[in-house]
Amino acid sequence: MLNGLTRHVPITTDPDAAEAIERVILEEGPETVAAVFLEPVQNSGGCFVPFDGYWQRVREICDEYGVLLVSDEVICAFGRLGTWFGGHKFDYVPDMITFAKGATSGYAPLGGVITRPHIAEAVKEGGDLFWHGITFGGHPVSCAVALANIEAMDAEGIVDHAARHQDLFREKLETLLEHPIAAEVRGTGYFYAVELQKDPERGIPFNSEEAADIVARLKPVLLRLGMIARADGRGAPILQYSPPLIAGPDEFDEIVRISREALDIAWAEMQADGGA
Ligand SMILES: Cc1ncc(COP(=O)(O)O)c(C=O)c1O
Repeated sequence: MLNGLTRHVPITTDPDAAEAIERVILEEGPETVAAVFLEPVQNSGGCFVPFDGYWQRVREICDEYGVLLVSDEVICAFGRLGTWFGGHKFDYVPDMITFAKGATSGYAPLGGVITRPHIAEAVKEGGDLFWHGITFGGHPVSCAVALANIEAMDAEGIVDHAARHQDLFREKLETLLEHPIAAEVRGTGYFYAVELQKDPERGIPFNSEEAADIVARLKPVLLRLGMIARADGRGAPILQYSPPLIAGPDEFDEIVRISREALDIAWAEMQADGGA
């Protein structure tokens, strides 16, 4: 965050992504930079997994310039990656974690922030309360739901279940690569994207008009076939999956079957209409 503004750097799979963060900090002046916000696995554009050493290098950079490292885990925390938090998956310790969805498994609305002790201490200097008005902040029902949810996940071994089945999920999704417009499967845990291209064999992407077209066709077909999955066209078109953490082999088969059928229908319609 820079003078109240935000600057973006390349996605985590770009080999230059960590160094780009250092360059931005230096350009802006380290004393003006409050924090670097990163997702363990980037959602936008479709489940970009960082390269080995990315988080460690960013941690080093943040430490060198006295900048907070915030792990935005609104999507990734509470089992989505087959671990409780991103730091468990990629071996780093952030200064802060933002979380939401998975804390209650979506049964009640709740968002929150976890900080390292020295940050909490700084906030508590003025008393035990963080003076920031949020109408429903600390809502007791949502907090009770989160506690019950986390207890149930723990007791039922839900995160372990996801960790044990994640490779199978990937294997099943990779069978979609036989489809003529499925170009790449990427992600980890229970968080995956399939990137679509016009002609993967020759590396020909959809142009922006075609991308919007295939996404618009896929959305209603997926729903009609009974699956809630994101079809997104910001950048290359993707089909994106974030299944319930209790999903297993039968659900993976259903996900793949419906995906294949939806791709068949949307692609055939698009070609018949002269859209590609
Ligand atoms: C990665 C990520 N960060 C932050 C947010 C915003 O979270 P909230 O709506 O709880 O403020 C979202 C919302 O989907 C998200 O996906």
